[in-house]
Amino acid sequence: MGSRETWATRLGFILAAIGSAVGLGNVWRFPFITAESGGAAFLVVYLLLVAFIGLPVMLVEFVIGRESKQNVVDAFPAIGYGNWKAIGVIGSITGFIILSYYSVVGGWVIQYIFGSLTGAYTGSAEAYFGQVSSGLNTAGFDLLFILLVAGVVGFGVRDGLERAAKLLVPSVVGLMLFLAVYAATLPGAAEGYAYYLSPNLATLRSDALAILPAAAGQAFFTLSTGVGVMITYGSYLDEDRSLLRDGFVIMLADTCIAVLAGLIVFPVFFAQGIAPGDGGIGATFVSLAGAFTTLPGGRLVGTVFFVILLLAALTSAFSILEVIVSFIIDTTGIARSYATAGSVAGIFIVGLPTAFDLQYLTVYDAIANNVLLLLGGLLLALFGGWVYATDAITEFSKGLTSPQFIPKLWIWVLRVPVVVVLSYVLYQNILDVIQTIQTSLL
Ligand code: PFF
Repeated sequence: MGSRETWATRLGFILAAIGSAVGLGNVWRFPFITAESGGAAFLVVYLLLVAFIGLPVMLVEFVIGRESKQNVVDAFPAIGYGNWKAIGVIGSITGFIILSYYSVVGGWVIQYIFGSLTGAYTGSAEAYFGQVSSGLNTAGFDLLFILLVAGVVGFGVRDGLERAAKLLVPSVVGLMLFLAVYAATLPGAAEGYAYYLSPNLATLRSDALAILPAAAGQAFFTLSTGVGVMITYGSYLDEDRSLLRDGFVIMLADTCIAVLAGLIVFPVFFAQGIAPGDGGIGATFVSLAGAFTTLPGGRLVGTVFFVILLLAALTSAFSILEVIVSFIIDTTGIARSYATAGSVAGIFIVGLPTAFDLQYLTVYDAIANNVLLLLGGLLLALFGGWVYATDAITEFSKGLTSPQFIPKLWIWVLRVPVVVVLSYVLYQNILDVIQTIQTSLL
């Protein structure tokens, strides 16, 4: 085994896992996917999926990680199921692709920090997004973002990250609350809330099935589940901790921050006359930049906001790279610095097309997030629910203080609802990817 660190404190683990979960997924992806998928009805389906499909699978990852104390791939032989190693391999590939375009969006954030400082987007939020989101500059800032992530992973400064996370999570929440209050004062606020928060039951009934595929992708992405991040993070855990409680806290924190992002972005959409769903992949950035333009002192607030978002994105990207690097170190025995350098070079090259054309970003996201990530989730549910169930219950029960039926309930949720929903969603998303590729690239 390579040089493995352990969590300095109980809080350290929770914060690092929250740091992984909270990122661009909450602030960039969640609002635009919600806007594209119908607003309030999407929110309801999404919340249900996070709690009843995402959380159970996240717990499978924790259990595998804690029992095996290994990286994503070796974890499976270590607990006696070498045949299921493929889950770790698929997870690492998924993480690799996600990180390749996540870094591109991370690079946008760095450019928005400069844009806020200099006032470059004032009065031209749309045009600024166009400039930021594709071209040589995009590739350059993509590289800068990757190098920042690599710096952290390469030097293994987990302590620094744990400390940063302690500051980061409260400051994200504080600043976002402030922005949500500001958004509430905008003229379009009421319409924004209506679109975002009051689901129409008839729509919900008729559209729920259509909403499921996008909601499931977002649920897994936001919880950092399906890649093996939570196997890796769980591998540093002690046995006296309640995995259920930890998973619940992580899910709650992540969900609150995503919902809060919507409370900012939706009133702003309506205030600016952006029809939800028309904004596309840049909607969040365009609308936030517009809001910072009108907010008194907006340039300063914007700068602080994008710096915090950058830190949140870095802690998420860090967790993905850690999965890939710890796997490479443990299997090849090469030094952490070489493993990191090699991985980031590959990630940068693979992600390059997405820095030059947003349609590639859409396609990469559809493949990695909506197909591979959910495939990982489905395999984890099948494995956890049907193959590894007895041992999983034993491991899950360690440190658990809640009633004894909970572990069994968890297994049955995995066995049937999770497997059924994920199989359906995966099938739909595969069809969707084929269509996206045909319309975007061919
Ligand atoms: N959860 C992160 C976010 O919402 O930004 C993204 C992410 C991190 C996805 C780690 C997958 C992952 F393994």
